[in-house]
Amino acid sequence: MVSSSLAVSSLLVLPLLASALRVPRPPVIQKVDPPHAGPVVDRNGTELPPLNTTYYFDQLIDHNNPSLGTFKQRYWHTWEFYEPGGPIIITTPGEQDAAGFEGFLTNATIDGQIAQQQSGATIVLEHRYYGYSNPYNNLSVASLQYHTIQQAIDDLAYFAYNVKLPMPGGDNVTPDQAPWVLIGGSYAGALTSFTKVNKPDAFWAAWSSSGVVESIVNYWGYFDIIRKHMPQNCSADVQAVIAHIDEVFTSNDTDAINEIKQTFSMNLTHLDDFASALTGPIFDWQSLQPAGELTDLSFFEFCDALEVKNGVSAGPEGWGLDYALQAWGSYWNTTFLPENCYDQTIEECLGTYNASAPYYTDISVNNADRSWMWIVCNQMGFFQDGAPEGDPTIVSRLVTALYNERQCTYYFPQAFSTPPTPRVNETNKAYDGWFVQSDRLFFGNGERDPWRDATISADGTHFASTAQQPIAVGDGFHCSDLYTINAQVDPTIEAVQQEGLAAMAGWLEEWTAPAQSQS
Ligand SMILES: *[C@@H]1O[C@H](CO)[C@@H](O)[C@H](O)[C@H]1NC(C)=O
Ligand SMILES: *[C@@H]1O[C@H](CO)[C@@H](O)[C@H](O)[C@H]1NC(C)=O
Ligand SMILES: *[C@@H]1O[C@H](CO)[C@@H](O)[C@H](O)[C@H]1NC(C)=O
Ligand SMILES: *[C@@H]1O[C@H](CO)[C@@H](O)[C@H](O)[C@H]1NC(C)=O
Ligand SMILES: *[C@@H]1O[C@H](CO)[C@@H](O)[C@H](O)[C@H]1NC(C)=O
Ligand SMILES: *[C@@H]1O[C@H](CO)[C@@H](O)[C@H](O)[C@H]1NC(C)=O
Ligand SMILES: *[C@@H]1O[C@H](CO)[C@@H](O)[C@H](O)[C@H]1NC(C)=O
Ligand SMILES: *[C@@H]1O[C@H](CO)[C@@H](O)[C@H](O)[C@H]1NC(C)=O
Ligand SMILES: *[C@@H]1O[C@H](CO)[C@@H](O)[C@H](O)[C@H]1NC(C)=O
Ligand SMILES: *[C@@H]1O[C@H](CO)[C@@H](O)[C@H](O)[C@H]1NC(C)=O
Repeated sequence: MVSSSLAVSSLLVLPLLASALRVPRPPVIQKVDPPHAGPVVDRNGTELPPLNTTYYFDQLIDHNNPSLGTFKQRYWHTWEFYEPGGPIIITTPGEQDAAGFEGFLTNATIDGQIAQQQSGATIVLEHRYYGYSNPYNNLSVASLQYHTIQQAIDDLAYFAYNVKLPMPGGDNVTPDQAPWVLIGGSYAGALTSFTKVNKPDAFWAAWSSSGVVESIVNYWGYFDIIRKHMPQNCSADVQAVIAHIDEVFTSNDTDAINEIKQTFSMNLTHLDDFASALTGPIFDWQSLQPAGELTDLSFFEFCDALEVKNGVSAGPEGWGLDYALQAWGSYWNTTFLPENCYDQTIEECLGTYNASAPYYTDISVNNADRSWMWIVCNQMGFFQDGAPEGDPTIVSRLVTALYNERQCTYYFPQAFSTPPTPRVNETNKAYDGWFVQSDRLFFGNGERDPWRDATISADGTHFASTAQQPIAVGDGFHCSDLYTINAQVDPTIEAVQQEGLAAMAGWLEEWTAPAQSQS
C-alpha cells in the first residue's frame, strides 16, 4: 500500500512539461517502487511508520551566518534493516522534489542493499531549494543567494551531526558515534564526491553513481556519447539532416529556410530555437535503463520513424538525407508536436526569446527547472550543445553555450545583465572535479550514459581505479547501478553493484569511533 501508487516514475509516465523541452536539461535520477507494497517491519518484527512519512529537520539557512535562522528541510527515513552499531545511509535525489523517492529507502536501490547487508538505516534528504525545502517562500534572485554547492555540502554535514533520527537510538548516531555512508546519483553523485573532498570526516564511505564531478560549459560530450551508442542507421541519418539544416540556416537563403520550417510544421522565428527544438527526441536517450520497468522507449520510436520504411529497416548507413528529412518532418507533425505542445503556439512551446514567458518569470517554490538553472548559470554549466566544427554531430552547431547563457539573463535579470559564463573553473578547483582523491569513495558509471563525459570515466581520461577509490563501469545508462532491478537483467551492472557492496563491507569493518577528544 505504502506509495504503491507512485509507479515507476511520474517523470517518465507523464508527458514532459513544456519547460522541460528546452535545453539545458538536468542530470536527474528517477524514482523506483519499493520492493513490496505491504507494511515495513524492523528486524524485531515491529511495524514501522509508512515509508512516505515525512520528517522535518531544522537546517541552517546560511552556514556562514547561523544568525539568519533555519528552514524546514524534508526527509524520509526507515530502520527496516537497522541494528545498533549499523551505518546510517543517506542520499539526496538532488535537483528535484524528493517526495516519491521512498524506493531509495528500500532494497530496490543500492542504498537499501547496503542497509540490508550492513544492518543500516536509510535516509532520503531533500536538497535545499527543491520541492518544499526552501529557506524562503519564493525563488527570487534575493532568495537564491544561499543556493550554492557549498551550502548543499554543508547541509549534508550539519544534518549528520545534528539530526535526532526518529528510530530507536536515533539521537545517538552522529558521525562521531556511527559510520555514515553518503550515496548520490547524477548531480547528487557529484555532490557526493564534492562532500568527501570538502568534509572528509562527516561521511566514512560514499557511493557516487554517474557523478558529474567535472563542471563543463560546452558539454557537447553529452550528445557525442549518444551518437556513438545509438543505432548507426539513425545516427547516420540524424547527422545528415542536421548537416543539411545547418548549411541552409547559415546560407541566408530564405526560401530554403522556409521550406525546412514547412517540412517540420515548425515556424519558429529564431533559427537557433528551431535547431534546439530538434534535440527533443534525442534527449529521450537519458530515460533509457536496462530494466524494462524503468525504461522509456521514446528514443527508439523516433529512430523507428526515421529508419523503418514500408516495414523495412535501413542498413547501418541509413536511408540518406532526402528520406530522413521528410520522415523526421512527418514525425514532427504527427507525433512530436501534438504530444509535446498541446494547445500552445509553437513559439510558446519551443521559443526561448520571450523574457516575459512564464517559465522565466515564475518564482514560486518547487520549480526545479529554475533552481537548477541557478546552479547551471553560476557554477556548473553543462550546456548540451552541438559539437565543434570538424567533429561529427547529431545536434545543430547553432545550439551553443551562448544560446543557453542568454537564457540565464532572462531567468535572473537581477543577477546577470549580460550572458554569464558559468564559473566552472572555480567549482572544479574547489572540489577537485575529475582529480578527486578521497578515501572510501566508490564510483559507479555506465558506458552508455550521456553524462559519462563529465564523470571520472569520461572518454579520453584514464583515472585509475584504486582500493580506496574504486571506479567500476558497467554497460548501463544514467545511474543504472543505483537500481537493483537493472542488475537482474544486466550482469555488468550486477558486477558494479557487487564490487561496491564488497568495498562497503570492508570499509565499514574498518570503522572505529573517533577518539572523544577529537569530537
Ligand atoms: C502515504 O501513502 C499512502 C498510501 O499510498 C497514502 O494514503 C498517504 O496519503 C501517503 N502519505 C503521505 C504523507 O504522502
Ligand atoms: C530489537 O531488539 C533488540 C533486543 O531487544 C534491541 O536491542 C534493539 O534495539 C531492537 N532493535 C530495534 C531497531 O528496535
Ligand atoms: C528486500 O527487502 C524485502 C523486505 O522489505 C525482503 O522481503 C526481500 O527479500 C529483500 N530482497 C532481497 C533480494 O534480499
Ligand atoms: C521573495 O522572498 C523574499 C525573501 O527572500 C522577500 O523579501 C520577497 O518579498 C519575496 N518576493 C516576492 C515577489 O514574493
Ligand atoms: C548571411 O548574412 C549575414 C548577415 O548579413 C552575413 O554575415 C553572412 O556572411 C551571410 N552568410 C552567407 C553564407 O552568405
Ligand atoms: C512564419 O511566420 C512568419 C511571421 O509570423 C510569417 O511571416 C511567415 O509567413 C511564416 N512562414 C511560414 C512558412 O509559415
Ligand atoms: C536500423 O533501424 C532500426 C529501426 O530503428 C533498428 O531496429 C536497427 O537496429 C537499426 N540497424 C542498424 C544497423 O543501425
Ligand atoms: C501537420 O500538417 C498538416 C498539413 O500541412 C497541418 O494542417 C497540421 O496543422 C500540421 N500539424 C501540426 C501539429 O503542425
Ligand atoms: C511573451 O509572453 C507574455 C507572457 O506570457 C505574453 O503576454 C506576450 O504576448 C509574449 N510576447 C510575445 C512577443 O509573444
Ligand atoms: C578555465 O581554465 C582554462 C585553463 O586555464 C581556460 O582555458 C578556460 O578558458 C577557463 N574557463 C572558464 C569558463 O573560465
